[in-house]
Amino acid sequence: MKIFNTPNEEGFFGEFGGMFVPEELKGVLREVDDAFKKYSTDKDFLEELNYYYNQYIGRPTPLYYAEEMTKDLKGAKVYLKREDLCHMGAHKLNNVIGQILIAKRMGKKRVIAETGAGQHGVATACAAARFGMECVIYMGEIDKERQALNVFRMEMMGATVKGVSYGTKTLKEAVDEAFMDFVQNKDNTFYVVGSAVGPHPYPHMVKFFQSVIGREAREQILKAEGKLPDYVIACIGGGSNAIGIFNEFIGDSSVKLIGAEGAGKGIDSGLTAATITIGKEGILHGFNSYVMLDEKGEVAPAYSISAGLDYPGIGPEHAYLAKTGREKAVPITDDEAVNALKYLSKTEGIIPALESSHAIAAAMKLIPTLSKDKLVIINLSGRGDKDVHQLMNIK
Ligand SMILES: Cc1ncc(COP(=O)(O)O)c(C=O)c1O
Repeated sequence: MKIFNTPNEEGFFGEFGGMFVPEELKGVLREVDDAFKKYSTDKDFLEELNYYYNQYIGRPTPLYYAEEMTKDLKGAKVYLKREDLCHMGAHKLNNVIGQILIAKRMGKKRVIAETGAGQHGVATACAAARFGMECVIYMGEIDKERQALNVFRMEMMGATVKGVSYGTKTLKEAVDEAFMDFVQNKDNTFYVVGSAVGPHPYPHMVKFFQSVIGREAREQILKAEGKLPDYVIACIGGGSNAIGIFNEFIGDSSVKLIGAEGAGKGIDSGLTAATITIGKEGILHGFNSYVMLDEKGEVAPAYSISAGLDYPGIGPEHAYLAKTGREKAVPITDDEAVNALKYLSKTEGIIPALESSHAIAAAMKLIPTLSKDKLVIINLSGRGDKDVHQLMNIK
């Protein structure tokens, strides 16, 4: 597998990343890293992973020519990478299956995870059910409310969903709780991290498992068009779907990489999750990256209408790619995302997740400025069924 930007031994991409955790946790993370290093080049492991990608998740997902959107926007030709068609409705399972297969080989019987939008929790509950593992999901109380349907799904598959009711009551505290559990139960437990964040080796490991998106997309666009895309656009929460599709194109300087961030009510409103755009360098959840900080230098709460995007940090590799100019971040407001969700539903008959709608919105701004010979791939990271209830309450 072609993986760009392998971090150094300490897990750094440039100055970003690392393992800023207590000594006790470092030992556990090194075990995970050793297992990942061993199995990520192991033929049997990769064959098994591929089997589940194909037979369980339903890969490869189509690269769909969005003809109506292309006609309507009168600019570049648009393709959608249909991760919304993955089992459980989003890209999350690509990563979860990979990590659970590692956990299984390490002899772990219990998996834990954090979740924001609920998609990663659902994916973990689903894979835990499939592999007969005990499963505990940590979720902020606010997210539990916003994503009640996903809580119901997780419980249906046998997971215990533990609400976190302090701080912002969202993803940030859910991650804190999961790390605490990991240290306390390290002998029998594997922490399945849901995005390209956290201490080393998680950002790199998550990218490894999500890189299947870009690998397929590259092959599919070359088959369909005989050339590489000019732009690849993806939404960024912690950054896993984006880095998964970007990986394959990082080495091609002609392909521009755009990450759509959750601007919430606007980047100057104080209610935003546009971490690359306005964040500062800092440490969160064991890694150095761009982080939302307040005047006192403490982590500030992030906000986005989309539960999967309101994380006050960003995966370290995205910070590195943004700082070196390889990736550009575009902030998208709640209103623009909701508008894009309605737009794609009406033009293509595809209801995107609120998270993915940020990528659609960024594309809607860009495409009319491009000539018809240009190609744009949008990573449609998930479907919007989980958001319909929330949208019904938006006037
Ligand atoms: C459908 C969907 N897209 C995107 C994201 C954002 O996560 P990431 O940036 O890791 O892809 C989420 C997170 O829950 C999600 O559910």
